Amino acid sequence: MRLFSKPKPLADPTKNAQCTAFEVDNWILSEFTLRQLVPVVGIHPFPLNELMLMSGAVCRFKPAFIFEWGTHRGKSARVFRETIKAFSIPCAIHSIDLPDDVPHGEHPKDTRGELVHGMEEVTLHQGDGITVALELCARLAANAPVLFYVDGDHSHASVTRELTAILDARPDAIVLLHDTFYQSSESGYNIGPFEAINEVLAKRGQGYARISTNTGLPGMTLLHPATHA
Ligand SMILES: C[S@@+](CC[C@H](N)C(=O)[O-])C[C@H]1O[C@@H](n2cnc3c(N)ncnc32)[C@H](O)[C@@H]1O
Repeated sequence: MRLFSKPKPLADPTKNAQCTAFEVDNWILSEFTLRQLVPVVGIHPFPLNELMLMSGAVCRFKPAFIFEWGTHRGKSARVFRETIKAFSIPCAIHSIDLPDDVPHGEHPKDTRGELVHGMEEVTLHQGDGITVALELCARLAANAPVLFYVDGDHSHASVTRELTAILDARPDAIVLLHDTFYQSSESGYNIGPFEAINEVLAKRGQGYARISTNTGLPGMTLLHPATHA
C-alpha cells in the first residue's frame, strides 16, 4: 500500500483565497509535513497539527517577512524556512533570541539557531524579541505582508506585552503564538498565553479571526485580521 502519492512538486495548498476565512488543503499539507518537515524537525515541540497550522498559515497568507522569537535551536525558524522553500514563497525570516548574558531558563547557549545555520533565508539576531522584531519590521517591511511568531517567555505578562505591541504597530499582521492550550486552572498548566490572547483581543473588538489547535498540549493559535483576503 502506498502511503503518499508519488513525489511531485507540491501545489499551493491555499483554498478560496478570495474569502476572508482560512482554508487550506490538508492533504497537501499532510504530505509536506510528513515528507519534508518531520524528517528535519521531528514532532517535538511541535506535534503534527501545529506543524500544519504553521506551514498552512505561511502558505495562505504568503508573508514577505516572518519575525519570530525565541530562536532556541531553530526549529520553528526551520519549519518556516522549509515551507517557503517547498512552496516557492518569497520571504525573509528573522529569528531573535536573548543575548548570551541574559539569564533565562530556556536559553539555548551554544546551540542557538543550530538548525538554520548557513541558510540564506534565515537571519539570526539577539535581543528582546518584540523590540528587535518591531525595529526590523519598521525598517524592512513597512509596506509588506508580515507574520509574527511569538514563542519566547510564555508568561501572561510577556504575551500580553508582545501581542499588544504587535497589533498596535501592525494591525494587519498575521500572528502565530505557541503554548496557548487551555486547560482548567486546577491542572496547574500555564494558561497565561491563552488568557493574554483573550484579554488583548477583547480590547480590540471582533477584528481578528482565531484558529487554535486546542486538542492538547502545547497548543498553537493563529490570529488574522477578520477582513484579510
Ligand atoms: C520554548 S523556547 C522556543 C522554542 C523554539 N521556538 C523552537 O523552535 O523550538 C523559548 C526561547 O525563547 C527565548 N526567549 C525568552 N524570552 C525572550 C525574549 N524576551 N526575547 C527573545 N527570546 C526570548 C529563550 O531564550 C528560549 O530560547
